[in-house]
Amino acid sequence: MLSHRYQNAQQWIFLLLLVSSSGKFNFSCPCKNQADCSYPEKDLGASTEVFAFSNGTTKVEPWTWDSVTTLVVPAGFKLENEAQANTMCIAHSKGRKFSITAPMTLQRPLNASSEDAAKWVRTMCQQVRTWHADILTVDLLRYFAFNLDSTGADLMALAQILVQVKQEMGELTKIPFKMACIVPWKPPCAKDNESCDFAHLSNDACDYYVIHPDSFTDHDNIRCIARATIPMSKLLYGLSEYNVHHVPPAKMILGVPWHGYSYECGKLLKDVCYLPKKQGEETCDFSRRNPISYKSIVRDHESISNAHKAWFDAPHYSITRNAKQLQIWYEDKDSLTAKYKLVHEMGLKGVALMYGDDLATGLTAQDIISDALMWSFVAHEFLITSTKKPHAVHHDLHYADNMAGVAVGCLLLGTALGSILTCLALRSRIRRPKRFFMHQADDTTGFIDEDDRHL
Ligand SMILES: *[C@@H]1O[C@H](CO)[C@@H](O)[C@H](O)[C@H]1NC(C)=O
Ligand SMILES: *[C@@H]1O[C@H](CO)[C@@H](O)[C@H](O)[C@H]1NC(C)=O
Ligand SMILES: *[C@@H]1O[C@H](CO)[C@@H](O)[C@H](O)[C@H]1NC(C)=O
Ligand SMILES: *[C@@H]1O[C@H](CO)[C@@H](O)[C@H](O)[C@H]1NC(C)=O
Repeated sequence: MLSHRYQNAQQWIFLLLLVSSSGKFNFSCPCKNQADCSYPEKDLGASTEVFAFSNGTTKVEPWTWDSVTTLVVPAGFKLENEAQANTMCIAHSKGRKFSITAPMTLQRPLNASSEDAAKWVRTMCQQVRTWHADILTVDLLRYFAFNLDSTGADLMALAQILVQVKQEMGELTKIPFKMACIVPWKPPCAKDNESCDFAHLSNDACDYYVIHPDSFTDHDNIRCIARATIPMSKLLYGLSEYNVHHVPPAKMILGVPWHGYSYECGKLLKDVCYLPKKQGEETCDFSRRNPISYKSIVRDHESISNAHKAWFDAPHYSITRNAKQLQIWYEDKDSLTAKYKLVHEMGLKGVALMYGDDLATGLTAQDIISDALMWSFVAHEFLITSTKKPHAVHHDLHYADNMAGVAVGCLLLGTALGSILTCLALRSRIRRPKRFFMHQADDTTGFIDEDDRHL
C-alpha cells in the first residue's frame, strides 16, 4: 500500500517535472534596455548582407560593427549566461540584426509529417522567439556531408520541414523573419535518382543560402595535396550550378574563412604538400588539417603579403616545426578582397565572416594591432558602401567584364588559354559529372586542373 502510494507520488513528481521543463518558455527580454530585443529599425542588409559568425570565444562588443549587418551566434548559447545573452542585446543596440544558428539534427529517412520533424520545428521556433532572433541560420552542411544516403524523398522532406519552420514563424510573429540555410559549395543531389533539386525545392524556405567555406574540401577523387580553402574555379562552378537549379545569385552568401588551415604534409616536394590517404581507402586523410588563427600566421610569417601573383590566388607558406613539415594556406587582404569583389560583381547577396572570433583576440599590443589591421583591411565594408554608390567601384574591380571577355576567348581559342579561370569553369560545365554529391566515390572524372592548387 505504502509502496503503491510512493510509486504514485513518484509518477506525479515525474509528470510535474516534465510539464515544468517542457511547457514553459520565457520569451521575456533579457536586455537592460527592452528596446534591444526588437528588430533593428533600419535594416542595413536591404541590399547586401555581411554576416559575422561568432562561436563565443571572444567578446563581440569591440567588433567593427560599421561593416557588419548581422551577428550570428550558436543556438546553444545560454540566456542565463549574461555574456552570451548580451550578444543579442549588443547586436540590436548597434542597429544590427541578430541570428542564431543550429544544425539540422533529424535522422534519415526524413518524414515531414512525423512527430520528430514537428518537434524539431517547434524547438527551432521556440529558440528563435526566446532569443528574439531576426534570422534563423540552419546548418545543413553536416547533414549533407556526413551521410551519403540522401534519397530524393529525403531531400524533398527536408525542404518541407524547412518550409514548416518558415510558416510557423510567420504565423507567430509580425517581424520580417528570415531563414538562412548553410549549404555546400554546389547543390546536393539525391543518391537514388539524378535529381539535385534540393536547392530548388527549398527556395521557399531559404531566404539566403550561405556557402560554407569548409565544404570546398573534396575528400576523394583528387590528388591529395594541400590547397586553397576556397578554390576560385570551384566557387564559380558551384554558383553556376545553383543558378541552374533556380537559386539566383542574389540569394547566395559566400562564407569566407578568417582563419587559415595548417596541413601536416606526408611529404613536401617542390613546395607541394602531399597528404596521405586514409588507411585502406581511396579518400584523402584531412585529419591532420587544423585551423590556424590569423594571429598565429602573422607571428609565423612576418612578410605574408608578398606571396601574391594572380587575383584568384590564395597565399600559403611552408615551415618545419617539431620535425613536422607543415604547409599553411590562408586568406589575406588581397585574396579576401578578390572574393569580396567577386561577390559584388556577380551580384551575390553578401558574405559571411567565419569567424569574427578569429581576429578579436587582442590581448597584447601586437594582437591589437594585427586585429585592427584585419578588421580595417577586411574590405567587406566596401560591399555595404559600394551598393549605396555603385559608381564608386573602381575600374579594376570589373571582373565580370574581364571574365566575359575571357569566355569569348575560350570559345575562340579552345583550351589555348589553358589555366585561365573562366575556361576551367566553362570546361567543368561541359564535363559535368553525373552526380554532384560532395563525396561521390565512383566519379572518376576530376573536373579541375589538379596541378593548380589555387583553382
Ligand atoms: C524570464 O526571464 C527574465 C529575464 O531573463 C527573468 O527576469 C524572469 O524572472 C523570467 N521569468 C520566468 C517566469 O522564469
Ligand atoms: C510519416 O509519418 C506519418 C505520421 O507518423 C505517418 O502516418 C506516415 O506513414 C509516415 N510516412 C512515411 C513515408 O513513412
Ligand atoms: C527523384 O526522386 C524524387 C522523390 O522520389 C522525385 O520527386 C523526383 O521527381 C525524382 N527526380 C527525378 C529527376 O527523377
Ligand atoms: C572558436 O573560434 C576560435 C578561433 O578560430 C577557435 O580558436 C576556437 O577553438 C573556437 N571555439 C569553438 C568552441 O569552436
